[in-house]
Amino acid sequence: MSTRKDIKISPSILAADFVHMASELATIESAELVHVDVMDGHFVPNLTIGPPVVEAIKGAAKSPLDVHLMIESPETYLEHYIDAGADILGVHAEACPHLHGTLGQIRRIGEARVKDGKRTSPVRSCAVLNPSTPAEAVEHCLEEADQILVMTVNPGFGGQSFIEAMLPKIEKIRGWIEARGLEIDLQVDGGVKASNIASAAAAGANSFVAGTSVFIEEDRKKAIDELRKKAQAAVR
Ligand code: DX5
Ligand code: ZN
Repeated sequence: MSTRKDIKISPSILAADFVHMASELATIESAELVHVDVMDGHFVPNLTIGPPVVEAIKGAAKSPLDVHLMIESPETYLEHYIDAGADILGVHAEACPHLHGTLGQIRRIGEARVKDGKRTSPVRSCAVLNPSTPAEAVEHCLEEADQILVMTVNPGFGGQSFIEAMLPKIEKIRGWIEARGLEIDLQVDGGVKASNIASAAAAGANSFVAGTSVFIEEDRKKAIDELRKKAQAAVR
């Protein structure tokens, strides 16, 4: 559980070299999370990986897996991704007609796996919002979520520019989180880099997905440290 001062960096492996994934993962071990983008070619116009590859990544990653499902009918696949090793599982509000129920289902499957001895830690639920979806789409289900992800690009591809117009949405959701005394992580994803992370942190985000801005650097630990320091300085 966390507050706006608990800064977390979640490097997106979409920007990594997939042929050398184990050594790529070794370069980001200082990050709090590892962000894994799952795309189905329907919900977004791009296709990435499925459960077997997520399972392989889980076997090689040191930090918890922050799995972002950009797929239609995600409720059909929750068990597959949980059993593949997702520690945080994110579903899009636009893909979930029963978002409140789907978030609860993620937590319940995780609890059942802990009870069965199939995993040691619970699974954290995450609701994701496309840029065009208003904050109000998650207002009713904050109590069911462990993380809210505000997309700061239109999902589907890495390397796009951060949409500044998302800052008021971040502020609004952080306001609800604080007013209700919740300890949800508020995450941003898309175009996050050293020059804009402070504005997202000042608006209320505490968890930051960064693909290109981490993997483009030769020294990934330094890139992660720089992002974390800039975000921390914005909320000191
Ligand atoms: C976009 C993905 C992001 C992407 C971020 O659809 O959800 O996680 O990998 O990449 P950058 O940081 O390059 O925008
Ligand atoms: Zn993502």
